[in-house]
Amino acid sequence: MSERIAVCPGSFDPVTLGHVDIIQRASAIFDKVIVLVSINPTKEPMFSPEERVEMIKTVTKNLDNVEVEASEGLLADFVKSKGATAIVKGLRAVSDFEYEFQMALANKKLCPEAETIFLVTRSENMYLSSSVVKQIAYFGGDISDFVPAEIKERIAARLTGLGRETINAKE
Ligand code: PNS
Repeated sequence: MSERIAVCPGSFDPVTLGHVDIIQRASAIFDKVIVLVSINPTKEPMFSPEERVEMIKTVTKNLDNVEVEASEGLLADFVKSKGATAIVKGLRAVSDFEYEFQMALANKKLCPEAETIFLVTRSENMYLSSSVVKQIAYFGGDISDFVPAEIKERIAARLTGLGRETINAKE
């Protein structure tokens, strides 16, 4: 049987424990998981694509079947170019659903050979997002419960005391 490849896409600005949990669970299901740091030219990210890739590589180094890349453009095109058959996303609250449902339908049209698979987030990560991490770090709060220990200092050092308007930008 051919290798089963999944893509885990996201902004990962920065990667959180919720993301890592989804990547780990996907890596147990698929032969190979490619984590895609999506570059959105209309957003001002806190961390460059290279930094985001580097941080994800650091926190997934124990997962042999996980690769990390950054790319600009349509997710569907990336999935096709990699021969992947699944897009794996974490689903938190009901509020995620409408947006994710729309994306899944659009991606199915653009890339019929891939299925979107939702993994339900662990309850402890239910309200966790990159935006929450950014807000807590900005106000000097402890982000230990939200981001991997290996990159905690790096994230805190960058975010503490930044401009509020930047922090409040979604994701
Ligand atoms: O972590 P996020 O910000 O919720 O991730 C959203 C992401 C990157 C998965 C989504 O914006 C995406 O797939 N972007 C790539 C461009 C694209 O394909 N857009 C959707 C067309 S239907």
